[in-house]
Amino acid sequence: MSADDNRVASIGPGGAAALSLLAAAVGAKAVVEIGTGTGVSGLALLRGMRPDGTLTTVDLDAENQRLARKTFLDAGIPPQRFRLIAGSALDVVTRLTDGHYDLVFCDADNQECTAYLREALRLLRPGGVVAFDNALWRNRVADPSQRDPETMAVRELLRAVRDDDDLIPALLPVSDGLLVAVKRA
Ligand SMILES: C[S@@+](CC[C@H](N)C(=O)[O-])C[C@H]1O[C@@H](n2cnc3c(N)ncnc32)[C@H](O)[C@@H]1O
Repeated sequence: MSADDNRVASIGPGGAAALSLLAAAVGAKAVVEIGTGTGVSGLALLRGMRPDGTLTTVDLDAENQRLARKTFLDAGIPPQRFRLIAGSALDVVTRLTDGHYDLVFCDADNQECTAYLREALRLLRPGGVVAFDNALWRNRVADPSQRDPETMAVRELLRAVRDDDDLIPALLPVSDGLLVAVKRA
């Protein structure tokens, strides 16, 4: 990951390129992002989506979302292409429509990541893609001596994805590890 103006740890360039690629590969028209930050990953998603596609992005922090809006507008993204929703991820995404989305990207609270997976699987259409940043979690996930709650939660996510027969997963070694999985059609 790279530090972004000292507020949040935005996804790195490799992860951002992979998000653009995934959004383009699924012809994404509707994308949900959990963890807007200052808009680095959101801009990558918007650039890969169809030109009429809409990003719905959720963050607890209103100042981060103000900066993300500026990131999108400065890049020439029209305001009708993004919906910034301020709030707690699980309060907001549980209100979004089942089966309506092509891609869900999760990058907020690691300790909630398995709950994000559950919501993403509900939100995605068949053939849609879920992606998680921080799947390597600063190399802690592979180190058995690391037993802190965040690392344990990321390990639980990896197991949940691996054990779900409805998912076709891969762990991409970009940025801090991008876990991606296709929901079987
Ligand atoms: C790592 S940053 C996201 C970076 C962004 N995805 C990017 O790469 O440009 C994590 C963001 O998640 C937000 N966040 C943390 N916990 C959250 C929660 N429970 N609900 C919603 N947002 C949350 C933080 O405010 C922060 O902006």
